[in-house]
Amino acid sequence: MSATDRMDSVELLNRQMAEKNLSGYWSLGMEGLPPEPMTSVEPCLWKWRDVHGSLVRAGEVISLENSERRVVRLVNPGLDRRHGFATHTLQISFQYVKPAENARAHRHTPAALRFVIEGNGAYTTVNGQQCVMEPGDLILTPKLTWHDHSNESKQPMIWLDGLDFPLITALHQVMQERYPERRQPIEKTSEAVMSQLGSSLRHGLPLRDFFHYKWRDTEAALRALAQDTSRGNPFDGYLLEYRNPLTGGPTMTTIECAVQLLSPGDRTKTHRHTSTVIYHAFRGSGITQIGGRSFEWEQGDSFVVPLWHQHCHLNRSASDEAILFSMSDAPVLRALDLYREEGASD
Ligand SMILES: [Fe+2]
Ligand SMILES: [Fe+2]
Repeated sequence: MSATDRMDSVELLNRQMAEKNLSGYWSLGMEGLPPEPMTSVEPCLWKWRDVHGSLVRAGEVISLENSERRVVRLVNPGLDRRHGFATHTLQISFQYVKPAENARAHRHTPAALRFVIEGNGAYTTVNGQQCVMEPGDLILTPKLTWHDHSNESKQPMIWLDGLDFPLITALHQVMQERYPERRQPIEKTSEAVMSQLGSSLRHGLPLRDFFHYKWRDTEAALRALAQDTSRGNPFDGYLLEYRNPLTGGPTMTTIECAVQLLSPGDRTKTHRHTSTVIYHAFRGSGITQIGGRSFEWEQGDSFVVPLWHQHCHLNRSASDEAILFSMSDAPVLRALDLYREEGASD
């Protein structure tokens, strides 16, 4: 059989198989699988002035009567833009709630977290727990917990939303339910839960849920960590993970959150890992090198470090510390025994 005849036969075979929902492995070519994990997620940085400008404008033209949430999503140019995802596993967006507004109660299979950026005194209610929001607070709404947001303060509230929406989409598990009323009743406050947590831990009693990390506690723990230079991490500066106080495990099943402090002028060593990380510059300014490209950030900016990309951080101020909030899919990679990291020789 000549080469041309063979090609024609293969094409005919492919067509006949396609009609029967079959596919030949030979169509993939000879390259086989890549020697290293690959992603179409691109390193990317979003400036706060663009995000903030869009939020304020949305505050003028988008009503919470017509839209479930007033949210601006950060879109990775390496992914299908229609979905509005920042990575293949996690979504980051920013939410804007004006005084006297309420974002109605619902629940869904994607897990979510809120990291508070601006404003004081609005609250998120999670399964009946009122979480009053202050800048730097981290509030969790794990899978299928009821949540609604109310702003009874005199100023607009802005917070960062993190969700495992892309992952749950890939698993075909997305669903949402509305609570029968616009707001759910408040049964307890975060303060009451925190004092109960203390006594529960002392007496070995289980507490069912933990939703609210106050910034005053996080900041105190971060500063205590930064007092001891031996506890610095060569790749991340002084890094504090938000562990689940009830299980000792990651922040949520699918998302690990952390906050890290870079001392003035600090430059971390270069490394890479199979998890993908979304960063938000909470304080200060710096430069992160990702896969040979430099991304300059200042307070409010957000950026993505895709999996297996070499990266390092620099606090470019000689006098001010920088604080980065981050969220990653590391718990998923660990659960699947796919987590790996390695330092570069720089
Ligand atoms: Fe939600
Ligand atoms: Fe890293």
